[in-house]
Formats: sequence, structure tokens, C-alpha cells
Amino acid sequence: MPDYFQDRSSVFRDESVLAEEYTPHELPEREEELSELGAALSPGLGTGAPHDVFLQGKTGQGKTAAARFILSEFETRAAENDIELTTIFHSCAGQTSSYQVVCDLVEKKTGENPNGHPKRKVFDHFYDLINDIGGTIVLVLDEVDSIGQDDLLLYELSRAKDNDHIADDVGVSIIGISNDGNFLAELSPKVKDSFRERRVMFDAYDASQLRSILERRAAMAFVDGVVDESAIALCAGYAANDQGSARQAIDYLYEAGEIALQQGDDRVTDEHAEKAEAKVDRRSIMRSIEGLTLQDHLALVALVMLESQGDTPARTRKVYATYRDVCAELETNDISLDRVRDHLKELDLLGVTRYTIRTAGSEGGRKYFWELNTDLGATINVLDSIDRLDGVLGLVD
Ligand SMILES: Nc1ncnc2c1ncn2[C@@H]1O[C@H](COP(=O)(O)OP(=O)(O)O)[C@@H](O)[C@H]1O
Ligand SMILES: [Mg+2]
Repeated sequence: MPDYFQDRSSVFRDESVLAEEYTPHELPEREEELSELGAALSPGLGTGAPHDVFLQGKTGQGKTAAARFILSEFETRAAENDIELTTIFHSCAGQTSSYQVVCDLVEKKTGENPNGHPKRKVFDHFYDLINDIGGTIVLVLDEVDSIGQDDLLLYELSRAKDNDHIADDVGVSIIGISNDGNFLAELSPKVKDSFRERRVMFDAYDASQLRSILERRAAMAFVDGVVDESAIALCAGYAANDQGSARQAIDYLYEAGEIALQQGDDRVTDEHAEKAEAKVDRRSIMRSIEGLTLQDHLALVALVMLESQGDTPARTRKVYATYRDVCAELETNDISLDRVRDHLKELDLLGVTRYTIRTAGSEGGRKYFWELNTDLGATINVLDSIDRLDGVLGLVD
């Protein structure tokens, strides 16, 4: 009987701690942020209600982990103080409106989704539930920037007391979490006001912070002594040079372990870390761009060509000229400059491109300057594997 399964125990002791769902039990790199969060919640341990607070920072900076951690500490402390506390942790990822989020919150509590009912009715239903729960309620809205500018929910909640939707003896506090640094600035004044002075910024981790995060994680995940110190440093360094994301650093390390295992090596070395970086980056670029339209791909090819010639940041006009050449080469129809700019913006949202807006010299007016946000080599690689772009990237070399 062949053995269809692998024995992973030569490398991994407990790989579940490398998985996305794992919540760390300590976050020493975020002591300051945790203190700020604790201070905001503290009134709820006495005679008041916790303050609303807003967590902001790029993806992979420990916002979700910190919120989960502080919430569980807060629950423990509230129980000791005989405070009636209910915490609700809700991820808004993939939801595009306040209405949808409220429907989901109602479903979470009742098992039934009120989707389709009038907005007012759904909100009233939600407030009934809140009043039924009673006491102190902390509602975490993670990735709340997913719902875009539609801040009805935050607006409603900030006024719910004034409008008598929520009983006087019930306290609802919001912990909002956003990956988008501009999210709060674009909300209505009343909502902004409720988070005033209560913003906790999660700045990007540097290489040494990422290294300590990885060292702690590696000690739990891998068999003792299997991972080279220098491989950990490499993974941390790669992530620091990119977005400073702990998620990314952990992904590199996990993949490095996987590669060592596949190769039958009994140590995780620099060589594995290097291969892991290329593989993880390729996978993430792939995920971002594989489902895009032909025009997105063509705009990206144009930018890649300029980038490889050292001609970026490039104005939209310049990207457009190259885009037209690409279209001619592939004998496809081209679209207008404005629409190509829209496609480039779409790619920016996915983290594939980035732009700055500058006032361009004598002409005046605000101009976009584009560059590639992903690794050039890995992006060329991915684009090369897309059939319908066959051959066109030959122009790059
Ligand atoms: N200071 C830290 N210590 C340990 N693990 C961390 C730390 N910061 C982030 N992580 C881990 O990195 C990954 C991304 O963190 P997460 O909280 O999901 O980031 P965000 O919500 O800011 O995108 C998670 O696996 C998390 O456990
Ligand atoms: Mg998060």
C-alpha cells in the first residue's frame, strides 16, 4: 500500500500557528497601541461606557490581532468587576454597504437575514436586539473601509442615543478598524466627531520588529533548531522592504518551511527563504491580476514596459502612448486615455500600481504619475503566463 500522506513532523511542530486564523497571545511590538486602546475602553470598567475608538494602518500591521487581544483582556477584567459586557466582533470584508452589515449583524444574533426589508425596519430590528442584550456592548467593525463612503451605520450609531433608539441604560461602543488611511477623513462630520482624539495609528513594522514577531512564531511552529536565524532575518527583511506587513513575513516563513519539506531538507535555510519570497509574491500578484479584463492587463503591460526601462513614475499620457503600441502589437482595439487612467486606478486599488499627483510645471493642473507597486520580475513572470498577452512581453527585453 503506497503512503499517500506526508510526514511533516521533521519540520513543523505546530503549523496551525502559521495559519491566518491564529491569534497571538502577546503583541509586544504594539504595547503603545494596546495601552491607547485600553485607555479608551477603561471607562467601561467603572461607571461609564467605553469610548469609541478607531484603528488605522495598512494591512498586516496587527490591527485585528490587537483588537481581538484587548477585547479578550477587557472581557476578563469586566467579569472581575461584575460588569455586564457583550462583545461583538464583526468583519465587514466583502460587504459594500451599511445596510448589508446591519443585515449580517442581525443574522448573527437571530439566525435570520432580514435582507430585502426596508432600511428603517432593519435598523429598528437591530436596535431591538441591542436593547435586548443590554448592559455594555462593544461592537468591533473590522475592515469597515470595505463599505466605502456609505457611513450610514456609523452615523446612525453615533446618533442612536440622541434619537432614543437605544435605551439609556445600554451603552454601545464602536471599535472601527480600517486598512485605508483616508477612510475616516471622508466620512460625515458627525461620525468623524465621535472618533475625535481616539484614533490609534498602527505604523508599518520595521525589519527588527518583524524579526521578533517571526522568532516568536517560529519557536511555536517549527521543530527546535530547524529554522536558521538568517532565514528568519531574510523573511523579515523582505517584508520590511515591501509593505512592512507581518502577514507577509509569516507567509514567507511558512512557505520557506514548506519548500524545505518538499525538498527533503532538514533545515530551513536562506535558500528556502529566497525561493519562498519569489513564490509568495508571484502567488499574490497572480491573485490580484488573473481575473482582470484585457484592458486592465494591457494598461499594466504598458506600465511594466516603462518600469523596466526606468521610465517611471510616468505621466498618464506616457503610459497611454506605450499602451497604444501594445495594442497595435497585439492587434486589439484601444480605448481612450481617460479610460486607461481608470484602469490604472483600478490596479492601484489592488495594490499592483501606485500613483502620485503632482502639479506639472508650466502647464499647471494636476497630473497623475504612475509606477509599478509590485515586484517587476514577478509581475513580468505572471503577465507572461497569461495566454492572450502572448509574445507582447518580448518587447520588454
Ligand atoms: N505584534 C505582533 N505579534 C505577533 N503576531 C502579529 C503581530 N502583529 C501582527 N501579527 C500577525 O500578523 C498577521 C497579520 O496581522 P493582523 O492583525 O491580521 O493585521 P491587520 O488586521 O492589520 O491587517 C496575523 O497573523 C497576526 O497574528
Ligand atoms: Mg485585519
